Parts: sequence; C-alpha cells; structure tokens
Amino acid sequence: MKSSELLYSDPLACATAAAAEIIKRTGVASHDVALIMGSGWVSAVDALGTALYECNAAELTGFQPPTVEGHSGKVRSYAIEAAGKRVNALVFLGRTHLYEGKGVEPVVHSVRTAVKAGCKIVILTNACGGINPKFSVGQPVLIRDHISLTSVSPLSGATFLDLTDLYSKRIRAIVKQQDPTLDEGVYVHWRGPTYETPAEIHMMRTMGADLVGMSTVPEAIAAHALGAEILGISLVTNAAAGVTGEKLNHEEVIAAGKAAADRMGALLKGVIPKLF
Ligand code: HPA
Repeated sequence: MKSSELLYSDPLACATAAAAEIIKRTGVASHDVALIMGSGWVSAVDALGTALYECNAAELTGFQPPTVEGHSGKVRSYAIEAAGKRVNALVFLGRTHLYEGKGVEPVVHSVRTAVKAGCKIVILTNACGGINPKFSVGQPVLIRDHISLTSVSPLSGATFLDLTDLYSKRIRAIVKQQDPTLDEGVYVHWRGPTYETPAEIHMMRTMGADLVGMSTVPEAIAAHALGAEILGISLVTNAAAGVTGEKLNHEEVIAAGKAAADRMGALLKGVIPKLF
C-alpha cells in the first residue's frame, strides 16, 4: 500500500510507521517533546543549537511536501541539556493546514507521529491575528482555550474526549514563571485560506475569542486524544481584519515572525527542560 493511502485508511498505523522510521534514523529510542513550528516560527529553532538529525518530512511515511511559504517541511531532532537533564526534542518545521484541502489526516499526522515516537508533551506554535486590541503585533500569547469554527475533528466514532484542560494549566504556569510578561487568550480556528471579514472578526470577538488563526486546534485534539499534554503559543503577527482598518497579507505575517524569532527561541529553549 502507498504511504498516502495508509494515512487515510489507518492513520494511527501510518503514524506508528513514521515514528519507527524516526527512531531508526535518529537513534533516539524515545523523544520527549514535539515542537510544531508554524508560520514565522521556523527561525526560532536556531536557539535550540545544532540539530543532531534532519530530514525532509516527505521522506517519512505519510508526510507530503509543504505548500506554504515559510514552512520548510523538515523534521529535526535536538538534545536540549540544562540542569543535568537531557530532553530529546522532535521538531517539525512547518505543518499541513485544513485549507490545503487534503482533509484532516495530513494535518494531524505530525503530532500523531510525535506521540508514537515517545513525545509526552506537544508544543504547537502558530501565527495569528489579534482580535483583542490589548494584544500587539510581535507579542506571543499562550493559548488558554479554543473555539473551533471549522466543524472538523480529527476524531471520529464515539470518542467523547474531555477538553476541559486541553491546553495544560500545569505547563502554562511553568511558561509564565519563565516569562511573567506572557498573557493568555482564546484562539479561534478559522479554516481559511481567506482571512476573515471584519464582520466575522466582530462575531468572534463577541463569542469571546482573542486570537484567530488557521491551525493548531485539530493537532491539539489529536495529540491530547493520544495522551499528550499540550502547550499552544500564538505569535500575534497582525491585527485581525477590521481591528485597525489595515489590509492583511502573508508577508507581514512572516516578517513579524522573523522579528520575534530570537525571543521565541530563547523562551522555548529555557522552558522545555522545566517541563520534565
Ligand atoms: N487570520 C487568520 N490566520 C492568521 C491571521 C489572521 O489574521 N494572521 C496570521 N494567521
């Protein structure tokens, strides 16, 4: 069977196969933490030092080449050492989005693979529009909760998963100890690929959303369903549509990410060993 067929017919078996390949290629029997680096976040991984292993994700079972600028489609393994501890981090540079139209299975394949490769914690990063005017461009915000507006779930069947503490309170407390200036917010998942209209942003704000983006939510659910603890961090790359009257474009999203990369990288590097 072709690996793309396996992804849709038996996604967990496909993730298990990809994880076995990662274990063999990296020589790391069990990774501890996965990082999914979204738009604008890719250069933040430079802070983690030199990768011990790197390949194109598309070489692994079930992965496809990336289609979004700013998403390189690489998988790397890092060892982060601090205070006598060594944490093995599996890093995915880029992700697949629902708006690519391939269904939800490729969107959550990275996190499922990471959990099958041993990761107990999954860190999901993204670029987002700021709905709440208290958030400014370049500001990282911890995801406290989400609202899904896509009506797409990575789960099917009678899997009535509790999402009360989806974005781990324990982890958020540790991250805020590391950087007490960090704020939290509610992230709303918008399918895209269009940005929202000002009227849609008005609706989201009325619903209680602070941040809007096109990723993260299916991955958080899929990884949590497999038992992983989740941290979500959004980088506000623009004011959401209608908030300032400015038009939105992908270049400003990438540029805001690059400008914040050093701070984001230092935050991740500092906090990861404290999570274990
Ligand atoms: N809307 C949706 N997704 C985004 C945005 C936005 O304003 N900015 C970055 N990703």
